[in-house]
Amino acid sequence: MKVLNVGSLNIDHTYQLERIVAPGETITSKQMSVYAGGKGLNQSIAIARAGIEVYHAGKIGIDGQFLIELCNDSGVNSTFIETGVIPTGNAIIQVTSQGQNSIILYPGANRSLDKAWIDKVLTEFSKGDILLLQNEVNLIDYLIIEGKKKGMNIFLNPSPYDEYIDKCDLSLVNTFLMNEVEGAQITGCYDPECILTRMKNLYPQAKVVLTLGQDGVYFQDKEQRVYQPARTVKAVDTTGAGDTFTGYYIAAVIEGKSAIEALTFATNAAALAVMKAGAANAIPKRHDVEKY
Ligand code: RIB
Repeated sequence: MKVLNVGSLNIDHTYQLERIVAPGETITSKQMSVYAGGKGLNQSIAIARAGIEVYHAGKIGIDGQFLIELCNDSGVNSTFIETGVIPTGNAIIQVTSQGQNSIILYPGANRSLDKAWIDKVLTEFSKGDILLLQNEVNLIDYLIIEGKKKGMNIFLNPSPYDEYIDKCDLSLVNTFLMNEVEGAQITGCYDPECILTRMKNLYPQAKVVLTLGQDGVYFQDKEQRVYQPARTVKAVDTTGAGDTFTGYYIAAVIEGKSAIEALTFATNAAALAVMKAGAANAIPKRHDVEKY
């Protein structure tokens, strides 16, 4: 079984602030750092650092060559990362001293995928392989349909939620990995019980992983619902913690761990990620997660 992640690769500009800037306000940052990021890239790196082979597919500009190097150094197969003339996607991230963040995304090359390129990438994958998607690249509606036609197992992190998610046939998704904000946007519900019940009614075949930050995480499928509390840690930077969770969760599923084992493994990885600044660089290696 192979894992293909068609996802974003970003250059993150992270600004340290006492608090998130308010409308009309100017505040001075204490520090600015440039990190590798993008929900897609972060999730591929998390899967690779958990010890599972993953192919990342996406587009970058000349300015993003260091992202390919990072993939190669982290064990992510970068064969399907293409360099074009459109600049690499980027993010402006404000991080407060409490570790909270706020992100502005500019998609750049991430939204320049075309159907012919997708078809070519998908020829290398087949029935039973995993197709992981987030919503920072274009054509995820097409990817879901074409991946499903091949019999691939579709994992969707519908983040960030926008009108592109509404264009997708979500009944083709095998596993949703989402937080309470995306859960509310998809279902119109504001509490976990309602989100999970509505998801079951809307997509009865799908597995749902609903992360609630400090309030833990739920897993639900046709037979069961399980809950795992979060670990209490001093957050330095929560950027990429959800991506770390997603990557480690998928790695655990591939290894055949039970739902509760997978949630625990992924929760521990995400807890380590929030204790370090940055996105991709903050994703822990497997032996550190196991020790923790
Ligand atoms: O999930 C965190 C990521 O969201 C950041 O790395 C940023 O690039 C945005 O895509």
